[in-house]
Amino acid sequence: MDRIRIEGGRPLKGVVEISGAKNAALPILISSLLGTGCNVYRNVPDLRDIHSTLDLLNHLGADCRLNAAAHEVTICADGLIHPEAPYDLVRKMRASILVLGPLVARLKTARVSLPGGCAIGARPINLHLKGLSEMGARIELQHGYVEAKADHLKGADIYFDLVTVTGTENLMMAATLADGTTVLRNAAREPEVSALADTLNAMGARIEGAGTSVITIHGVESLHPVKFRIIPDRIETGTFMVAAALTRGDVEIVGCEPGHLDAIIHKLRLTGARIDTGPDRVRVIGPETIHSVDIKTLPYPGFPTDMQAQFMVLMSVAQGLSLISETIFENRFIHVSELRRMGADITVSGNAALIKGVPKLSGAPVMASDLRASACLVLAGLIAEGVTEVQRVYHLDRGYEAMEKKFQALGAAIERVRDG
Ligand code: EPZ
Repeated sequence: MDRIRIEGGRPLKGVVEISGAKNAALPILISSLLGTGCNVYRNVPDLRDIHSTLDLLNHLGADCRLNAAAHEVTICADGLIHPEAPYDLVRKMRASILVLGPLVARLKTARVSLPGGCAIGARPINLHLKGLSEMGARIELQHGYVEAKADHLKGADIYFDLVTVTGTENLMMAATLADGTTVLRNAAREPEVSALADTLNAMGARIEGAGTSVITIHGVESLHPVKFRIIPDRIETGTFMVAAALTRGDVEIVGCEPGHLDAIIHKLRLTGARIDTGPDRVRVIGPETIHSVDIKTLPYPGFPTDMQAQFMVLMSVAQGLSLISETIFENRFIHVSELRRMGADITVSGNAALIKGVPKLSGAPVMASDLRASACLVLAGLIAEGVTEVQRVYHLDRGYEAMEKKFQALGAAIERVRDG
């Protein structure tokens, strides 16, 4: 397994270009199941999760072509589509559950392996299933699979007890071909949900209100192919913004969408970082003294849970005490134990972590446990005294395209060590 080796202490300087958003690309690629013909997607990031998604879509009968160098994917879904997403594919990526809605809408039947939990939490899909059954699907859980059948999905008025991003996306896709109108209430407002709605509307769907907590979908007979460009990744952007502040550097982040970053920009400015924004760029200049700032993760437009671990690294070397409350997932402090091994002073109680800033971290061999935790450990290595080796970087490769190369170009002493 590959490792990332970092020698800390270098301020990051220069320009970095952001890739397409993983969490927009996954549902958008999967939405190709809803129509026939060939869809062309641009600015698709070259990530493990993208490859897993294309493997699954190929298994289902779509014809997927990836031009990784051009960041372009073509998907033709007019062949025979099969209704079953098997465990050995779904277990690699829980977002595979997003094929459920489209398969039921298109084939009237679907058999999808239950995704199971993951490192950061149980992550049930009860709200996905509740919504589909309200649209008339008959749901059965057996042998680790969810089986859904519907002669024809019908519009329904659905309220989400919890804000769920992929739950909103799954039901939005199912509703595009349902009879009548579906209303999703307490829907997720993430930019990735809006990007999916934009894609579906470009395919001929009739979706209103995406980006707000009430989304209305008027069902249509069929959808036609689309050419669509994936939006920039706001979490990759935020990760590089924190890295610039952390290393007291000066970094211009281009090809991003500042309008998706309000909470991150606000909190980083409070730490003392100077942040200038342009139409598609953000410049971050790190402060001499990093001030401690409290954060609470919330659904968009609140502070994103996917930035919690990265921000914790910044707070671990800030002046004073900061409190981080994780309200989205029940077990998203796994990175704390590895940061402690690097000298961080962090106390966890329930869903809150109290961080007492220390003058410096010290390099150590550390182990990644999930995607954003691995990013946080790389950030810690950038400022730690000495050498840090991050193991199990396959987690990192799921959601960051060539992260070590991008940091190298900004002056970091970082390399990927390939094992075997
Ligand atoms: C999406 O996951 C993202 N993944 C996650 O990004 C992100 O952390 C999360 O949204 C929150 O923003 C993709 O978009 C592919 P949820 P999702 O359903 O949709 C509970 C990353 O690092 N819940 O919004 O799976 C759930 O347990 C990943 O890129 C139910 O109880 O998250 C959680 O506590 C990690 N029942 C909360 O809701 C359900 O049926 C929010 O989960 C669904 C969710």
